[in-house]
Amino acid sequence: MRTLAVEKTKILVWDAPTRVFHWLLALSFAGAYATSEGSGLMGVHLTLGYTMVGLVAFRVIWGLIGTRYARFSSFVRGPAAVARYASSMLNPKAEHSMGHNPLGAVSIVLMLLCTLAIVFTGWVYFNGGAHALKSLHEGAAALMATVVGVHVAGVVFASLMQRENLVRAMFNGRKQGRPEQSIRWSWWPVAVLVLAGVLGFWWLQWQAPNAIGLGSNMSPQNAGQWSGNWRGGDDD
Ligand code: HEM
Ligand code: HEM
Repeated sequence: MRTLAVEKTKILVWDAPTRVFHWLLALSFAGAYATSEGSGLMGVHLTLGYTMVGLVAFRVIWGLIGTRYARFSSFVRGPAAVARYASSMLNPKAEHSMGHNPLGAVSIVLMLLCTLAIVFTGWVYFNGGAHALKSLHEGAAALMATVVGVHVAGVVFASLMQRENLVRAMFNGRKQGRPEQSIRWSWWPVAVLVLAGVLGFWWLQWQAPNAIGLGSNMSPQNAGQWSGNWRGGDDD
């Protein structure tokens, strides 16, 4: 009986909405970066940027009402706890966090904030804001790319230290743990809603120019106007 109580099995840690959020955010960020530089795909660039801010808005709500390990209260920690964790990190016997570790949480919060800064500066610049905003926009995007690099390196490092594939866990939601640490349900209907919302938004942007008044759509027929004249000639 005693051994049973401490035996580890695969348990559900990341609910489906968190996983769908993660991979859509990563995909959108990569796509927005790929379409940022005079590619004639400014419509795709803007669409993916708005997708990111929508995803972050969802994640903030889910961070308040979502399942155990998705809630901010379960992983956002103060500087002292982060420092304590950082100094214990190289000790293979250190206790693993079931959810995000305190250092990983720092990068997560930074990525959420960077997204807001990128989209805000991009939006103001796009709507005729000062040229300096373009540099701020690029700077915020570069900062986020750096944090993403550190994030991915951190995931690889933690996977090696814990001898557990954390990337796979972000796909199937499962990690090694004790049964009582498991969340009870994956909340897949919420994930389906998030995915449907994003795909629906992309479809609308593709179908109908300016369908929802965001100033752009991503149809190829329209792509030409973004190369060189991406503001559509409506100001300066
Ligand atoms: C809805 C949100 C966004 C808006 C409105 C927006 C708008 C713009 C605009 C107007 C430009 C200038 C293009 C030019 O002068 O040729 C630009 C460039 C750029 N954007 Fe965004 N953007 C958004 C989201 C993003 C995101 C999410 C990223 C990060 C991946 C990003 C990264 C960049 C970069 C790196 C450039 C510089 C490209 C260059 O070197 O010319 N943007 N964006
Ligand atoms: C390209 C941009 C990426 C962004 C913006 C990003 C962002 C994030 C965010 C916000 C979280 C927190 C998840 C949550 O609780 O909501 C997270 C976690 C995670 N990400 Fe990423 N990510 C990116 C790329 C990647 C890649 C390429 C991998 C795989 C190699 C990856 C693997 C993970 C894993 C494993 C976790 C969970 C970490 C843990 O165990 O605490 N991410 N990421």
